[in-house]
Amino acid sequence: MKQLHKALLTALFTLASTGCGEPTEDEQPTPILEEGESTEDAEQDASVAAGENLFKHETFRGNGRTCATCHTSGTGTLTPAQARAAYNANRNGPLFRRIDSDGRLGTSYSKLLNDATVTVDITLHPNVTLANDPTRRTLTLRRGIPSTVDAPSLDSEIMWDGREATLQTQARSALLGHAEVSPSRLPSTDQLNSIAQYEKTLFSSNAMRDYAKGRGPAPALPAGRSDSEKRGRAWFAETGVCGSCHGGTLLNRMTAGNPMGVPANSQFGTAFVSEFNLAGNPMLTFNVTNPDNTVTPVSSPDPGRMLVTGVAQEANLFKMTSLRNLKNTAPYFHDSSAKTLEQVMVQYKQVLDFLGIPNTPQDIADMTAYMYLL
Ligand code: HEC
Ligand code: HEC
Repeated sequence: MKQLHKALLTALFTLASTGCGEPTEDEQPTPILEEGESTEDAEQDASVAAGENLFKHETFRGNGRTCATCHTSGTGTLTPAQARAAYNANRNGPLFRRIDSDGRLGTSYSKLLNDATVTVDITLHPNVTLANDPTRRTLTLRRGIPSTVDAPSLDSEIMWDGREATLQTQARSALLGHAEVSPSRLPSTDQLNSIAQYEKTLFSSNAMRDYAKGRGPAPALPAGRSDSEKRGRAWFAETGVCGSCHGGTLLNRMTAGNPMGVPANSQFGTAFVSEFNLAGNPMLTFNVTNPDNTVTPVSSPDPGRMLVTGVAQEANLFKMTSLRNLKNTAPYFHDSSAKTLEQVMVQYKQVLDFLGIPNTPQDIADMTAYMYLL
């Protein structure tokens, strides 16, 4: 709890004292330009079909994995239950590769089976070193698998720390890293474009698809039917405690009154996941060299965005992924520490209590009920 953001504390207190207000007007939809739409529909359809085939079936002669090994059909992610079912069916199946075994020893897979986390290799920003291994430039961390539904079309930040610029570079990195494809066998530019085009056809609802294609309004926050859901909604309105960070169509953009003191529309914040570390991941200590050449030590199991920006103040900031379709995208948070929406609220109850924001068991139940509707 060393890297608490003062601005966050102060502003969340302020929010708490003003309470949960009424929803403000919905943001203006960002027009999405679909390349080649209407003029070259047939060509586009062929590319999407090719992309789907690559996403689901092509291994590029790597370790046997495809994108769909982790981003499974329907939900675009993988639950611990799915991982266990795959293991019981075939423990030599493509999900079970040494790189994602416990400690990369190739003998057991308890982390993958219990949390559905896999390893990522992150190149450290030049300003960041590991205190106990200062010459090391790549860090291996375990992270949860974000859903590939809605995000490819509607989310401009890619990865928990925003480190990939485009869907194409992302796919390339995924093939090199997760699928252990040899650099000489990587897909062509056309194939990478097809994969990206296919990903952009994945939506959680027709309303979301229509919105993305510029054919319909941004889906509004559900009204809620029961009294509990209706009360839960107030927390997610833009002036509510949750909505102050979770704004915009995917509920993953800071709104103007966000407590982080960061520009509206930013997607990076903290839900104190690394700070509280309920996942019990090993603590690491980093030294971050600041622009004035002073050094800030940072301890965290995964400092997220700081590793790629080299800015100590960005320690423990992660991308807010979409909250739409939440009931189908478990597990939650960058470390998959919450397996259910009830467990999400175990994390947030701790946050609210820590920040002194009053909350009752009924409030927690209301927020939980509402999240099932998103
Ligand atoms: C071994 C499991 C695994 C495989 C295989 C895999 N991914 Fe991922 N994917 C992940 C994880 C884990 C992350 C998040 C990592 C991070 O942010 O550090 C991720 C992130 C993503 C994201 C970003 C989502 C967001 O909201 O930021 C996209 C898009 C994506 N993957 C597409 C693909 C594609 C395309 C392929 C195949 C070429 C693929 N993935 C293969 C595990 C996997
Ligand atoms: C200070 C900004 C902020 C506030 C306030 C906030 N969140 Fe979050 N939320 C985040 C960030 C950042 C993440 C990603 C955290 C991570 O994975 O480390 C997140 C993640 C989540 C997730 C997980 C999404 C997923 O698929 O992994 C849920 C669910 C969620 N928040 C619900 C809530 C609820 C409920 C509230 C109100 C009690 C709330 N949030 C308040 C910033 C915030």
